[in-house]
Amino acid sequence: MQFQGLTFAVPKEIMPGERRVSAIPETVKKMVSNGAKVLVEKGAGLGAFFSDEEYQSAGAAIVADVEELFSSADVVLKVKEPQFNSQTGKHEVDMMKAGQVLVTFLHPAAPANHEMIKNLTAKGVTALTLDGIPRISRAQAMDALTSMSTVAGYKSVLMAANRVPKFVPMIGSAIGMIPPANVTVLGAGVAGLQAIATAKRLGAVVHAADIRPEAAEHAKSLGAKIVETGVPAEIAIGKGGYALSLPKDWVEKEQQALYDTIVKSDIVVATALVPGRIAPILITEEMVKNMKPGSAIVDVSIDQGGNCALTVAGEIIEKYGVSIEGTKNIPGMMPASSTTMFAKNIINFIANFIKDGQVVIDMNDEITASTLVCKDGELVHAGTREALGLK
Ligand code: NAI
Repeated sequence: MQFQGLTFAVPKEIMPGERRVSAIPETVKKMVSNGAKVLVEKGAGLGAFFSDEEYQSAGAAIVADVEELFSSADVVLKVKEPQFNSQTGKHEVDMMKAGQVLVTFLHPAAPANHEMIKNLTAKGVTALTLDGIPRISRAQAMDALTSMSTVAGYKSVLMAANRVPKFVPMIGSAIGMIPPANVTVLGAGVAGLQAIATAKRLGAVVHAADIRPEAAEHAKSLGAKIVETGVPAEIAIGKGGYALSLPKDWVEKEQQALYDTIVKSDIVVATALVPGRIAPILITEEMVKNMKPGSAIVDVSIDQGGNCALTVAGEIIEKYGVSIEGTKNIPGMMPASSTTMFAKNIINFIANFIKDGQVVIDMNDEITASTLVCKDGELVHAGTREALGLK
């Protein structure tokens, strides 16, 4: 049996406002039937509407003491990176020990996490980060980032629709036809395509822009009208087909190309992102000034700095009568769906490196190699080593 003899811990997430959890009763049942012992912290699933009783019926043991939970586990499954637990007065890293495995979103290259990553490494923990999962077909069912972007793309349109002072669809009424809202989606990757599909379902007129012709093609097939950015493919696309960070003059040209569409939009959902880089500024202050009062921008790419010059991270502000949303944890606002997707991704991911009850860290496996952060006291994650100036 795959998980025979292994104990898994599912702690309650402690980041303020985090409602997701790393396992659902369905995945617990699967782990238990494959030989695992699963410990779930008391109340861990409540934020996502899964009760302790449901986990118990699935075969988990409920543990009230978080330090006991951490210390009893071979593998700790989390959603967010380890943080300070104000209830125990201890950092989650300090509850871990050498040889334990941690699987979560670690974002190890982000400066805010460097200290925590160094401590995790020094502890001798084997840590694997879900944000390192490569976008290859074998890893699709493990790709939690894609799942979370799907949630973010969908929810961002609903948040904006809720804020604008008008109908989104065309409405036929006794006083005549009310025209539909204009929605513009910047970036047609995972989040953007889901935003386009959602806006179409709501009946909006949807425009979309992406510097990768392939992404624009996908947006078109979902019914969006494409705004040509004018950026040539050789400048836009790099290794592996990913978007490149554009030189300043090309960003300005793109801004000009987008200007008219953006100022006429009732809703702009901004998801343009270049992997590992600061997101491009596509919505300038001048554009916001010229948008209709009451319009709404949701800047989904805020974790990478945002696509709008005025967005404030973690806040909803109003500027020139336009609301600009920089909410950082959009998937946390839809905890049941995002938790279900996350829990299934994480079980598929661990099944890739746990064989017959043994944790097998095989660096010849592309998925393991690109997700391993540290092991046996050594920091191996390339992006983090680079960020820390280590060779
Ligand atoms: P992705 O990589 O699939 O898509 C990004 C798209 O932006 C790509 O198609 C790329 O070609 C395009 N792009 C890059 N530069 C551009 C430019 N100058 N003009 C137009 N398009 C450009 O990324 P994904 O998964 O869709 O994520 C999008 C963003 O959403 C990321 O910043 C991600 O971190 C964020 N996100 C935010 C969440 C939140 O809670 N705020 C939750 C989930 C994702």
